[in-house]
Amino acid sequence: MIRNLYCEDQALMVLNQNCLPEELVYEKCESPEEVVAAIKGLKVRGAPLIGVTAAFGLAMAFSSYSGTGKLRDAYFSRMKELFAAARPTAVNLFWALERMERVYRENRHLSPGELASCLRQEAQNLYEEDIRVNEAIGEQGQELLGEGSRVMTICNAGALATCGYGTALGVIRSAARRNKIEMVWACETRPVLQGSRLTVWELWQDKIPVTLLTDNMAGYTMSLGKVDAVITGADRIAANGDTANKIGTYSLAVLAKYHGIPFYVAAPLSTFDWNIEQGGEIPIEERSAEEVRTIKGSCLTVPAVNVFNPAFDITPEHLITAIICEKGIIRPPFGAAIKIWGREDE
Ligand code: MRU
Repeated sequence: MIRNLYCEDQALMVLNQNCLPEELVYEKCESPEEVVAAIKGLKVRGAPLIGVTAAFGLAMAFSSYSGTGKLRDAYFSRMKELFAAARPTAVNLFWALERMERVYRENRHLSPGELASCLRQEAQNLYEEDIRVNEAIGEQGQELLGEGSRVMTICNAGALATCGYGTALGVIRSAARRNKIEMVWACETRPVLQGSRLTVWELWQDKIPVTLLTDNMAGYTMSLGKVDAVITGADRIAANGDTANKIGTYSLAVLAKYHGIPFYVAAPLSTFDWNIEQGGEIPIEERSAEEVRTIKGSCLTVPAVNVFNPAFDITPEHLITAIICEKGIIRPPFGAAIKIWGREDE
């Protein structure tokens, strides 16, 4: 299984996803600021992986910090804020930082060295839990797919977006192990092509049949009767089930509804935001115009043209057939089940 990150002495080594699929390049992050830059620059991406990477970055911030008491509390808050500002939409980032804060508070009486190892251990726990959770999502979700399934997905909600196995691709992997997958339709996912660069690469490595299509081909492909289900990941799910995910997800959900195709969201409970009632409250990240104007440094348009580049959109709950998480499959109306499972998770 591909390793997205690992620790080397005091540094964090991250797989630079911007170099995929051409090159497998690990980059050394030697400071919390370098870890934040890797998240902002999409070297490390995908909701669960962002959270775990930030946790390792926060632990790193304490590996050589010798302050204690109030000084150390203030340093923790500063570091937490630094990571919280990396990307706004995926709630897993804030969830992971809260987990780290809990460990910090429980162990703030310890020496700098002891505290640093507690924080490092919690980051490692988050890493290992994420893999187990994804495998559980895969097992739950594969039940929804029959033999010969042709599944459409967008962006990359795979091993590369998590600590391993993936959420939407985890479901596809588990189904493929049972020979249920005839074809995965991978939408390329403009502007930065996580579908064509990452999802295709992952599925190709695993010998799962995949066909690439540009985002605007999804509707026609559905109209030909070639899609049995759409499965996507999520960056944040509101208490009513409204879901933020990569830009283009909403369009797929509308198209799926029109064509009578089930639309599934696969995500861990760490992606649910119990404090947000509905999707309109989810902050949507807007990214640089260059991502739209260019591909790999080549300009595609008039260089000064105005650009709108929201990185995510909101799929309203009424377009979602079911949400797959590690505890099971949530069907509409989502609100009640989401609230119960949220309380159990606390
Ligand atoms: O901008 P990205 O590449 O971080 O966006 C990723 C997505 O939208 C994924 O679908 C989502 O984070 C789920 S990953 C398991």
